[in-house]
Order: sequence, then C-alpha cells, then structure tokens
Amino acid sequence: MQAIDIHNHFFPRSWPDFAQRFGTPNWPWIKHTEAGKADIMVGDRFFRHIYSACWDPEVRLQEMDRDGVDLQVISATPVLFAYERPLQHALQSAQLFNDAALELCSQGKGRLKSLCQVPLQDIDAACKELSRCMRAGHLGVQIGNHVAEKNLDDPGMVTFLHHCADEGAAVLVHPWDMMGQQRMPNYMMPWTVGMPAETQLSLVALILSGAFDRLPSTLRICFAHGGGSFSFLLGRLENAWHHHRVARGACQFPPRHYLNRFYVDSVVFDEPTLQFLVCTMSAERVLLGSDYPFPLGEEHVGTLIRESHLSGRAKAQLLGGNAKQFLRLELGADARGDNDALTQEGGLSAGHSERLSYSSYLEVAELLDLQHPQSSPPHHDELLFIIVHQTYELWFKELLHDLDAVVANLQRASANPESRDEVYEAARLLRRCTEITRVLVEQFTILETMLPTHFLAFRDKLEPASGFQSEQFRELEFLCGLKDAKMLAYHKPTPEAHRRLERRLREPSLHHVFFEALQAMGTLPAPEPGASEEQEFETRSRAILSLYKNEQHYRYWIDVCERLTEFDELVVSWRLRHIQLVERIIGIRMGTGGSAGASYLKHTLDKKFFPELWEARTLLTE
Ligand code: HEM
Repeated sequence: MQAIDIHNHFFPRSWPDFAQRFGTPNWPWIKHTEAGKADIMVGDRFFRHIYSACWDPEVRLQEMDRDGVDLQVISATPVLFAYERPLQHALQSAQLFNDAALELCSQGKGRLKSLCQVPLQDIDAACKELSRCMRAGHLGVQIGNHVAEKNLDDPGMVTFLHHCADEGAAVLVHPWDMMGQQRMPNYMMPWTVGMPAETQLSLVALILSGAFDRLPSTLRICFAHGGGSFSFLLGRLENAWHHHRVARGACQFPPRHYLNRFYVDSVVFDEPTLQFLVCTMSAERVLLGSDYPFPLGEEHVGTLIRESHLSGRAKAQLLGGNAKQFLRLELGADARGDNDALTQEGGLSAGHSERLSYSSYLEVAELLDLQHPQSSPPHHDELLFIIVHQTYELWFKELLHDLDAVVANLQRASANPESRDEVYEAARLLRRCTEITRVLVEQFTILETMLPTHFLAFRDKLEPASGFQSEQFRELEFLCGLKDAKMLAYHKPTPEAHRRLERRLREPSLHHVFFEALQAMGTLPAPEPGASEEQEFETRSRAILSLYKNEQHYRYWIDVCERLTEFDELVVSWRLRHIQLVERIIGIRMGTGGSAGASYLKHTLDKKFFPELWEARTLLTE
C-alpha cells in the first residue's frame, strides 16, 4: 500500500534575520543549538525544539523508509505565515520559503513535494504568488484558517479558493493564531483546545455562508487535524440547522450534504476517533497526515491507520489512494502499481486537470482490479457473479446520493412552503431513481445465464457472505423509512458500516420529511395528541387524497407522489425478481446468510416505503 503524508512540516536550515531587514520585531528564526538540533524562536521567545529532519532531506528520507512513507508533501509551520505584517514583508517571507521548499524537494529523490504559502492578507498578491508557485512545481498551498477577523467565508478568501480551483492547486487549511488565548495560558491549551475549535469554525463558516454552493466542485481542500472538532459536533450543527431558521445561514442544503466537498487528515492519534471520523466523513475523505517531525506529530507515521481495524480497502484509501485524488498525482508509466518504483526520481508526477485522461478520471485500472474470485482455479462464472453484484452496489450508491438530495430538497420545501423549485427538483431526482431501479430489476436476467450447477461449483467459497450484509441496500431501506434495528446485527463485523447504518436509523427518513413538508404546507394536520398509529396513518393517507383531489393546485406535489409510488412499486419488483432468481439458482435451499432462503424473502414482498400512497388509492375509490 502506498503511503502519502499530506501534512508535515519543513523549516529551512537557514532563515534570514527579517527583524533586522524590516526593522519590525518578533519574526521567527532558527537557532542551531548542537549538531542536528535547533530551536525555532519568535523574536526572543523560545517557540519549539526541532531536529535535522526539519531541514535535511537525507534524514527525512531515512525516516520515511523507517515508517514506510512513499511521499511527503511538505508545508510551512504556521509561525511563518506573517499574515499580520505589511504585504511586502509577508510576500518576501513567503517567496523565500516557497523557493527553499522546492530546493529541499529537488533533493528528495522524487519523494518530496511541497505546498507553498501566500500572503493571504492581500488576495491579489496571494493569487499571484500561488500561480507563480504552481508553475514552479508546488502541488498546492497551505493557508492559515483565518486572517485576523476574516474567516474563510470572507469574500476575498472565497475568491482565493476559487483561484486555487482554477489553478488546480490542492489546499491544506491549517489552524493558527488561536482564539481565546488569554484564557488558555497553560498546558498547551491553544494547541489542544484552540486549534480544533479554529478548524471547526472555518468549516462551519464555509458551509453556512453558502461558500461551498458558489465554489466550483473541482476545489480540493483539506482541513488539518481531522477537521478539528467539526465531525464530532456535526450532529449539533445539523440539529440547529433543522430547528432554527437563524442557524441555517445561506447554504442550500443541510451541513451534512457538504461532507463530500472537503477532506480531513488523519492526525487524531486514537483509533476510536479515527473510526468515527471515517464513519462521518467516509473512507474516501480522510488523508494520511502526521504533523511530522514536530513533537506533537505521529511518532511512526501511518501507524494509527495501519494498526486500526479499518478494512484493507479503507486503509489503502487513507494511506495513499485518497491523497492521489487530492493532489492529482499520477503514477508514471513505469511506476504503475509498483511501490519501489515510487521511490525513483520522477516515479510520481503531478498531473493537473489538463493531464486528466479518461482512465485516470474514472480510475479504470483500480476498478478493473477489484474482482477477486475465491474459487481456485477460478470458475468461469464467478467473475460474472462478482461484477453483477458490484454494479448493483454502484447503482445503490447513486440511489443513496440522489435520495439524500431528495430529502434535502423536501426539507427546504418545508422551510419555504410557497416555493415550487425544491418540489420540482425532488420529483426530477426521483424520476432518476425510478429509472435506475428499473435497470436493477432487469439486470437479474444477466445472472440467470449462469447454470445452477455452475453457481454450486463455487457457492461454498462464499459462506458466510450474504446479501444480508449489503450495507447500502439496508441504508436504502432505512433512508426511505423502513427502519429495522435488528438488521444491524449483520453488520457487526464491519464497524464502519454498522456506524453508518446507526446514523441512518437516527436521521429523518424520506417518508418522514415528505409528510413533514405536507404538514408545513398545511395539507396534513399536526398529529392529534394521543392518536393511535392507525389514526395517524389514515390522516396521512387522507392528506395524499386531498392532493390528488385538487390536481390544479398541487400538480408538483402529485408528481412527487407519483414518482414515490413508482419507486415503491419498482423496489417490490426488485424483491420479486430477486426471489425468482434465488429459486431458479438454489431452489428452496437455505441462504448463505442463514435465512430460510426464498421462503424468507417472500415475507419481504409486503414491505412498502410509502403505504399511505397506496392507501390513498383505495380511499379515492370509496
Ligand atoms: C446467485 C444469485 C443469488 C442468490 C442465490 C441469492 C440468494 C439470497 C438469499 C438466499 C438471501 C436471503 C439471505 C440469506 O440467507 O443469505 C439473499 C438476500 C439478499 N440478496 Fe441475494 N442472491 C443472489 C443474487 C443477488 C444479487 C445479484 C443481489 C444484488 C445486490 C442480491 C442482493 C441481496 C440482498 C440485498 C439481500 C437482502 C434482502 C433483504 O434483506 O430483504 N442478491 N440473497
């Protein structure tokens, strides 16, 4: 597995006396104390002990070999940011650092790359320096999370981030200049308390201001130290967003919707925390970082991820796979899939957007490397069996993606009952969901070209794997409203999946937000205190009835109802075709997941996501 560390620091071996050059105090400088050791000083004040790994490429490479790190992307320590200084001073400091970083990388045998720094107090100058650095070979930029009172949602900062996207520059946001320091004089609390809060503040500002709605989705931005306290308090943020109009800000969707717009690094030092982070952000959004070679960094870079109980695939993503996306790195032709080749000069090359190709964009090589038959020698039909299941899972992923957006649109419709845009958008996306599900129903015929005898030839290799363990299928059920906590038991062996499903259990379902929207519109009365579930069901069904009876007025909502009905219908068709397939291939045998097989599955045919939509039909004909 390749390991790419995107968060580690560099301090040049020699650094000018800016205090003397500019006549202003408290510049950072390096005081060499003994061979291989130095202190970073800020003016007369001691700041941090460092050692030769900070500036010596040989030492870095040796320690990278020791830790199994293939590539480091170095960046400045935030004391060098100088955002509070006059532009010309900060620019000279940034340029000196940026050139020194490239010089270090040139001695790194292709295994050191860099992020530049910019004078962020002046957006024009910051954009110019970024462009210069990208041309010179930096992969992106590290920025502090604020400039004095300006957070990342400040219009100038957003302009800069836009420029980063245009330049294809990866952005690492590092907390600095921590708030409330007068209340944290001891115990390094600015680092342990202030830094996580700073990062959370930046993320919340970017989300709620609607900046992510305006910034291009091509922006690649990562937040240091696991995104600070953001993911741990996301539930609180969501709750406020849903319940207090004033907490909503200007963003189009609930905060969780934006999780796929940024990355976080893995600098959290604790396995349960890492697991939680992966569960919240997904394994695609966490990148190896270390804070190396500073005293608060990970001692042996990558150990937390390697020794965690994450799946092998998730580990590979966190260690290096995601960083390749984040940095737009491509393996050189001779280095493909070969760890050693990475260590050769030029083994890794930066591929900015103009170098994107069909196969690198779609990751065709990775995709085609994901089929691993268990039978030995591989049975001819096992490849088909794997590919059919994988395509189902891909479509499940798209369904979840679209249904989440339907939920968000209906929530926004609740908040603004007069507006039709969200209702239209929900119906449009639901139509896509029905078309995908239609394909899923049809797709079983391909698997039916496999003879039962051929399946039996490799079936015993599959136990105890079973469709019961399809996390995404269960997520779809939970998301639509069929929440059965008992089904979590099948996901105990995969903690990530278990936690995601628990989250789905807690979150409002499509069923819930749909009726909440009808309530906000005044079509559905608020539940009577003490009403039974049957009475509430009838009230909901009559609300649907009233929509259909007033077609002129509720055209858009009727479209949503029709799409939901069709989706419900198609999912039942999927269940039926699956049962037919099961009977055709294994008759009435038990399943590999331990159920009674087809006879068990037949009970699921009565499951409906939106039974009120069906009941309304009966009421219409009364
Ligand atoms: C040879 C083909 C297949 C056979 C023999 C088969 C068999 C079964 C059986 C017997 C079950 C019941 C649980 C158990 O005891 O294991 C089941 C459940 C399931 N299967 Fe399949 N299956 C096949 C293909 C597929 C395909 C292509 C998918 C596509 C994703 C799929 C998805 C599922 C799902 C999601 C469940 C859980 C259903 C529920 O809980 O309602 N199966 N399968």
